[in-house]
Amino acid sequence: MVMHEQLINPTVEKFKNEFKSEPEHIFLSPGRINIIGEHVDYSDGFVLPAAIDKYICFAVRKLPQTHFCTIIAKDLGEEYTFDVTMEVKPDQQMWMNYILGVFSQLQKPENRFCGMEIVFSSTIPMGAGLSSSAALECGFAYILNELFDLQLSKKEIAVIGQKSEHTFAGVKCGIMDQFASVFGKEDKVIMLDCHSLEHQYFDADLKGYSLLLFDSCVKHSHLTSGYNDRRKDVEHGKKVLWKNFPEIEKFRDFTLAMLEHVKEEMGSISYKRCLYLLKEIQRVEIAAKTISEGNMEYLGTLLTETHAGLSAEFEVSCNELDFLVKNALRQEGVLGARIMGGGFGGCSINLIRENKAEEVIGTISEKYLEHFNIRMKVYQVKISDGIKEYTNEYII
Ligand code: GLA
Repeated sequence: MVMHEQLINPTVEKFKNEFKSEPEHIFLSPGRINIIGEHVDYSDGFVLPAAIDKYICFAVRKLPQTHFCTIIAKDLGEEYTFDVTMEVKPDQQMWMNYILGVFSQLQKPENRFCGMEIVFSSTIPMGAGLSSSAALECGFAYILNELFDLQLSKKEIAVIGQKSEHTFAGVKCGIMDQFASVFGKEDKVIMLDCHSLEHQYFDADLKGYSLLLFDSCVKHSHLTSGYNDRRKDVEHGKKVLWKNFPEIEKFRDFTLAMLEHVKEEMGSISYKRCLYLLKEIQRVEIAAKTISEGNMEYLGTLLTETHAGLSAEFEVSCNELDFLVKNALRQEGVLGARIMGGGFGGCSINLIRENKAEEVIGTISEKYLEHFNIRMKVYQVKISDGIKEYTNEYII
């Protein structure tokens, strides 16, 4: 019901006010958390994400008589209209690029689109590392698939979302966020092999612990952060590794000894990045086993090791996040903490004993406010289903 009051009802109301009609469909497209496996999704690694109960809600109506699609971004107070029969190009309005990038891939002679009216609104905070952009891209691809019977598989929807980000938004992201938004399952964590896109689900039973997100409120945009630069560092490293060891098939099959062997030739920056990646890929494999055995203490240790690597070797943390992690780890009941997502701001993810959570939140909020004069936000998220149509369950 909270979701209706906060998200669905206001989105529908806006639709009715703007378009003077009822929406015909409601879709919910979730954000994600990632337990472990950061920046390895574009390097043949494994990741452990899950969809969460923070969503973009889309209220939609098809307009068979026209070829104009009008989209209202309720939270931004912005609107955009495009002609579905004309070639689309990237636009100044950044949020629209995620949508246009999807549309451009599906504009084919066999796909006959007509006009649409769409209002969307979100409870996924933007720039907080919870993948609001993947929710937008994949949500729109999912809508087109449903409304126009495009016969796309879930995997195709995720890949279309990723490509939209590469081509229209200019961020060379991996596949993790889109995959989690599409394939999420209630109470399950996804173990995704980013090389083959094979995946399996794990029970997300944390045995009396919970995963809490502390939002530093330092906003990032991966277009202007160092995300693409990190990718370039890694690509250079890979080139050197493959030149020396052409027989290796997947990046994760390089050993630390091989990396040491090419250290000089690679240069110190790419070396540090690749070192982090190879260690992180191993950590995820261990973490999956650790979760299934219920060893939360060790899972916490792994999370904290990831943070150290992201901060010192991959260099995607910032003072605020380092502060949040360092201070969280000093509190009783905190087993592990790390920056989550692409980095350069956003949230930390903290594995905390449930009965200690309130106390930890109080202490850390106070310290953070005192040190940075920023009021940290806290999200207690529930692991939820991936994108779905919600029309029939919706009763206003
Ligand atoms: C962003 C990207 C993902 C992934 C993470 C880091 O969220 O969109 O593809 O690389 O950063 O793990």
